[in-house]
Amino acid sequence: MTDFARISFAKAGGKAAGVLVVVADESLTLGKTATALNLDKLVKRAAAAADFKGKAKSPLDLITPGGTDLDRLIVIGVGKAGEIAAGDWIHFGGATFGALGRAKKATVVLELPGKAEVSADAAADFALGMKLRAYAFDNYRKGDEETAKAPADIVIAVADAPAARAAWASRAAIAEGVLLARDLVNEPPNILGPVEFADRVKALAKTGLKVEVLTEKEMTKLGMRALLGVAQGSSRPPRLVVMRWNGGKPKDAPLAFVGKGVVFDTGGISIKPAGGMEDMKGDMAGAAAVTGLMSALAQRKAKVNALGVIGVVENMPDGNAQRPGDIVTAMTGKTIEIINTDAEGRLVLADAIAYTEQRFKPKFIIDLATLTGAMIVALGHQIAGMFASDDGLAAALGAAGIASGELVWRMPLGKEYDKAMDSRFADVKNAGGRDAGSITAAHFIKRFVKDTPWVHLDIAGVALGSPQTDINRSWSSGWGVRLLDRLVADNYEGK
Ligand code: BES
Ligand code: MN
Ligand code: ZN
Repeated sequence: MTDFARISFAKAGGKAAGVLVVVADESLTLGKTATALNLDKLVKRAAAAADFKGKAKSPLDLITPGGTDLDRLIVIGVGKAGEIAAGDWIHFGGATFGALGRAKKATVVLELPGKAEVSADAAADFALGMKLRAYAFDNYRKGDEETAKAPADIVIAVADAPAARAAWASRAAIAEGVLLARDLVNEPPNILGPVEFADRVKALAKTGLKVEVLTEKEMTKLGMRALLGVAQGSSRPPRLVVMRWNGGKPKDAPLAFVGKGVVFDTGGISIKPAGGMEDMKGDMAGAAAVTGLMSALAQRKAKVNALGVIGVVENMPDGNAQRPGDIVTAMTGKTIEIINTDAEGRLVLADAIAYTEQRFKPKFIIDLATLTGAMIVALGHQIAGMFASDDGLAAALGAAGIASGELVWRMPLGKEYDKAMDSRFADVKNAGGRDAGSITAAHFIKRFVKDTPWVHLDIAGVALGSPQTDINRSWSSGWGVRLLDRLVADNYEGK
């Protein structure tokens, strides 16, 4: 992973040269440092000429401004100074990095007009926004150095640099987790098979995570025939990876996060149409989010016991592939009639969740999966679908969503939907009809959770083909890392 924004902090008020970024509100008043540099008049004149009004996240760009030593002066609008919300700073940071263009070195002075200082948390969020915006998946653009991105050195100048630096430490860990998740999702499927995915997780042991990898042999012994059935058409063997972070009290039950890790989903024998199938390299985004989260928790030394379990498989058609009509027995002992081999994610989750519940007896289980196309039809690429057996956990996730900006919307569960998963021949079938496809999929999973509070997040829309925002320009968003980190930080670290 290339570090495209190398962030450091300094005390505001120092000498300015090169590229300088300052902020202005809608009154076009600048902060202390910019005022001391006599930039007021220059900015007002340029603003009038360019029709710049200081609107939130809008940039004003001045090249070699006269009367200064600067190569470039960029003014970033923050809207009405009195109306800035805590959640805005990450977006200001993203927009600022966007305005920098190809600049390789810049100083950003974070000072608002008036007396109020930009807090350490705000500065750290700003830095996080820069880092997330700076990300690009360029590893494979070998022949095109022109478009390949080069890193930028950014100095963020604030009133209290040591406090900002301290606040940045946890954000840097989160940034790394998000970018790791994006990298895993963007990686082409020939490079990232189940074994390679597991190897990348193993490399996280250096962060203090305990990593265990189960092979086919061990999964066979455990009776994970739902997961293994998906993998059997692929020449690349599956893996089940367990990550543990024990930063809490030894006796506390762990929080469990389970991810769908289908490194490529052809649909299997129920093969998908060709158009857009390349996107199915991202069908492991749930597993990537769990991995990114666990990395973030470990790197910021979260005071919590957490557990990440990912089922990593490839869904291929082949002479040995699973067929519609097959009946397999899952780890829980339930039998599953395969109706559609393209409904494979739920089969992987059934065994990964059962394993998690039986072995670790967690406080809750949250699973993340690019599970259904129907989820994209319902909520598009903006909000993830949430299905919950526990109202308290659903509410906590809703709040973490608003706080982090990674939004979830609760979807219904109910007996009538559950019935759609009854099979003619087995305990359950793996696909209902077309109607309410995301809900019936959630009910399938629910049948494999015994009594642990459980939430399923269908991230098919939010994780892939992500909208271009201030904080993400990549196909993959790394969705979920910030949401779940926030859930943990706000509810489970005993502060
Ligand atoms: N991985 C897909 C869902 C998906 C589709 C994710 C588009 C991201 C973008 C999943 O395995 C799948 O194929 N689901 C089927 C279920 C159906 C066969 C019951 C679907 O959504 O069509
Ligand atoms: Mn599928
Ligand atoms: Zn899938």
